[in-house]
Amino acid sequence: MAVQDIQPSVAALDIVCAETAAPPTALVVFGASGDLANRKLLPSLVQIQQRGLLNEHFCLLGCGRREYSDEQFRQIAREALAEHAANVPTSVAKAFIDRLYYLSGDYADPAFYDRIKDRLAEIRQKHGVDGCNIFYLAVPPLLYGDVAECLGQAGLSQKDACDCQRCARLVVEKPFGRDRRTAAELNDILYKWFDESQIYRIDHYLGKETVQNIMILRFANAIFEPVWNRNHIDNVQVTIAETLGVEHRASYYDKSGALRDMFQNHMLQMMSLVAMEPPISFHADHIRDEKAKLLRSIRPFQPDSWNSCFMRAQYGPGLINGREVPGYRAERGVAPDSTTETFVAARLFVDNWRWKDVPFYLRTGKRLARKNTEIAVTFRQVPHSLFSSVGLDEMPANVLVLKIQPEEGISMRFQAKRPGSKICMGTLNMNFSYQDVFGVEMPESYQRLLLDCMVGDQTLFARFDSVQIAWELLQPVLDAWQRGQVPLAEYPAGSDTFAEADAVVAMDGCQWRRLSEK
Ligand code: BG6
Repeated sequence: MAVQDIQPSVAALDIVCAETAAPPTALVVFGASGDLANRKLLPSLVQIQQRGLLNEHFCLLGCGRREYSDEQFRQIAREALAEHAANVPTSVAKAFIDRLYYLSGDYADPAFYDRIKDRLAEIRQKHGVDGCNIFYLAVPPLLYGDVAECLGQAGLSQKDACDCQRCARLVVEKPFGRDRRTAAELNDILYKWFDESQIYRIDHYLGKETVQNIMILRFANAIFEPVWNRNHIDNVQVTIAETLGVEHRASYYDKSGALRDMFQNHMLQMMSLVAMEPPISFHADHIRDEKAKLLRSIRPFQPDSWNSCFMRAQYGPGLINGREVPGYRAERGVAPDSTTETFVAARLFVDNWRWKDVPFYLRTGKRLARKNTEIAVTFRQVPHSLFSSVGLDEMPANVLVLKIQPEEGISMRFQAKRPGSKICMGTLNMNFSYQDVFGVEMPESYQRLLLDCMVGDQTLFARFDSVQIAWELLQPVLDAWQRGQVPLAEYPAGSDTFAEADAVVAMDGCQWRRLSEK
C-alpha cells in the first residue's frame, strides 16, 4: 500500500528554554591544529560566542607537536572559521581569535606541562580568567593516558574548587579504550589524577538536538509512556547509515571498525535513551543511572547465536550517488587483506519487565545507499481486524520514527479513511520537521557539549560505568571475531541492505526499514 505524506500544521507554541552562559574558563586543547579542532571545536566555540554564551573572561591555549607561533595558530583558526563558521560576523570571529594562544611540545615530556602551566598562568591573568581549566584531549586515543598522567604530575588536575585557578576538567574523545581491558586501564590512569566529576567523556551523538529530544518526547508528554513497553511495541530499529567511506581516517578506522567506532558508543547510548526507565529528575547522575541500568539489562550474547544475532560486513566496490567508489580494502591506508568491519547489525533483547522479548535491531554502516540516522518504534498490530470482509486481515502497524539526521524530526504512520468508497483506507505519515517549524539549522553538537562542559553539566557525557558495561557486553563479540568464529560478509558500496544483514531481522519475520523510508 502506498504511504501518503501529510504535513500537519505544527507551530511552536509555548517555548520554555533554559540556557546557562559559560563561566570564566581557560580551555587547553591538545591536538589544536588537528582536524577535530579545526572542523568542530573552534567553529563551535565561536558560535557559542556569537550566541552571547562565551564568557568575556575566556582564553584558549592550543597545544600540539607542530611548531607554530601564536600568530600562525590564529591564522589557522581564521581559515578554519572561514570554512566552518562562515555565518559568524568577522568582528565576532576576530574577538574570538584574539583570545587564542599556542604552545608546541612533546605530549610525553613532563617539561612540556611545566611550560603549559606557566603559559596558562600568564594568559589567564591577561584575560582575567577566574575559573576552571578545561583540558580537551583532541589527540589520538593512544595518547590519552600519557597526557592525563603528565597533567596530574604537573599539578594540573586538581579538583579543589576553592582554588579555581587550578581546578581542572578533562574532556576525553571517544573511543574510550578498544576493549574491556584497555578501557579499564585508561580509566585507572584517569582516576589516579581526576575523579569522575572532572571527567567528560564525549559521545557527540548525545549533543545532537534530536537525540536530546528522545528524552523530551518520552518524558514531557503523557501519551507515550503508557504504550512504551512490550504490550504495545513490537520492535525497535536503530539505524546509523552513512554514505561516507573511510575518508582520510584509515590509520584510525582500520584498527577500530564499526563496532568500536559507532556501536559501543553512539548506538548503545541512543538505545539506552529510548529504552531506559524514567529518571527521577533531569539531574545528570539520575539520567546516567538509568542509562547504565538499561545497558546492564541487555541480554548477553550466546556463543551459538553469533551469526544470527551479531553480523559484520565490509563494503566492496560499488556506486554511491551514481559515482563509482572503491571497496574498503582498496581505500588509501587500508591493508589489502583487512578484515575490519564497516557494517554491523545486531538483534538485542532487554531483560526487564518493560521490554522482555521485544527485539531491538541495531545497524550501522559506512558506504550505504543514503545517510540516515533514525530510531523507528513499530507498534503491535491491531488485535483483530474489522475489515476482513474487504480483504484487510492485516493492518500495517503504526510506526513512530525519531529522525535524528539529516532530516531532523518525528513521523508517525497510521491508517486513515480515504474519501470515497465506504471502506477505503490508506497509510498516512504525519511529519514534524524541525526545519519547517523552527526554521533554523540544527546547532553542531559540539556547541552543546562544550558549553555543558564549561558550565559543569555532565548529563550528556558518558559515565565510566556505562562505558564499562558496554564493553562488557561486546567483549564476547570481539573475542569471537578475533577467533574468526563469525564470517565477514561483503556488501557492495551503495547498498540499502543485503542478505546477511536481512538475516538478523528475518528470524522474527521482520524487515529492515529502507534507508529512504519516510
Ligand atoms: C564518529 C565516527 O564518531 O561519528 C565516524 O568516528 C562517523 O566514523 C561519525 O563518520 C558520524 O557522525 P555524524 O554526526 O556525521 O553522524
